Amino acid sequence: MSHPLEELRDNALREIESAHDEKALDNIRVRYLGRSGSISAWGEQMKTLGKDEKPIVGKLLNEVRNALTAAIEERAQKFRVQKESDTLATIDISLPGTPNEIGSLHPLHQMHERGIQIFRRMGFALAEGPDVETEWYCFDALNTPPDHPARNEQDTFYLSDGRLLRTHTSTVQIRAMECAPPPLRVIASGAAYRRDEVDATHSAQFHQIEGLYVDENVSVADLKGELEFFLRELFGFETEVQFRPHYFPFTEPSLEVYVRSKALKRGEHWIEVAGCGMVHPAVFEAVNKARGDKAYDPDKWSGYAFGLGMDRLAMILFDIPDIRLFAQNDLRFLKQFA
Ligand code: PHE
Repeated sequence: MSHPLEELRDNALREIESAHDEKALDNIRVRYLGRSGSISAWGEQMKTLGKDEKPIVGKLLNEVRNALTAAIEERAQKFRVQKESDTLATIDISLPGTPNEIGSLHPLHQMHERGIQIFRRMGFALAEGPDVETEWYCFDALNTPPDHPARNEQDTFYLSDGRLLRTHTSTVQIRAMECAPPPLRVIASGAAYRRDEVDATHSAQFHQIEGLYVDENVSVADLKGELEFFLRELFGFETEVQFRPHYFPFTEPSLEVYVRSKALKRGEHWIEVAGCGMVHPAVFEAVNKARGDKAYDPDKWSGYAFGLGMDRLAMILFDIPDIRLFAQNDLRFLKQFA
């Protein structure tokens, strides 16, 4: 004759085997193994047994408890596997995937990176300044008098609080000199804004790389040599560079830079790509005033500065006929530079 515990085990195992879901299985577990379940009740009953019977029933009780626990776990595992494969069955693996669209850098951005890389090799550090500026950084400190035409509302975007969108990146010259005494060798790359009539070669937002080098005995020869080196690195060794006299309030003398190269498409014409010159003593004096010292003594230090038109350079390098293409966000255009 089997022990009632064995009968209990056989019944429980049958129930476990025929449980049809997780909830039913959990009910069975509570009924047998829970705190007030049958197995626990047997545990209580053990106390009433005699010395001889106790170890035998105790051993059996343990075996039954282990058997039920294992059977329940096995059944639960089956339910988990079933659930997983049910979920997978709802996914159609024959459907085409979602392609990852990989973007690319804007041609102007590529142009800036190329330019910065060349200047870094030449020993220039990268400086920066904000697009929204004060009149002082954009004009006054750059020796540009209040009646200068560039300050006219027709040329400059003014904000209602008197600040403005910088009309050139030369603002960063002042910011860099305010921060550090000479010698100084920095470039700054970014956007500038003018109320220009927009056409194929003019845009209200354009981009520049500004350069500034201040040291003892810096000369126009240094300026010309370094800009020539830069432009040949960019466009190839055959590139011809021409400097023509010009006027900027913040440099003296001032020059405009033109390039021409047979290696480039449409390269037979001279194209203006930069303004440059030797830093005007009045600019050094304005910086000294702001710094409250005499760090940029114009009798001791001299320097050159330049502003390269990056849109122009990109148009030449990538043979882009119209500056407006940079801002139109046309993928057919942008994908050509991916
Ligand atoms: N800031 C001038 C411009 O935008 C260019 C320039 C920079 C000229 C530095 C001289 C020195 O036209």
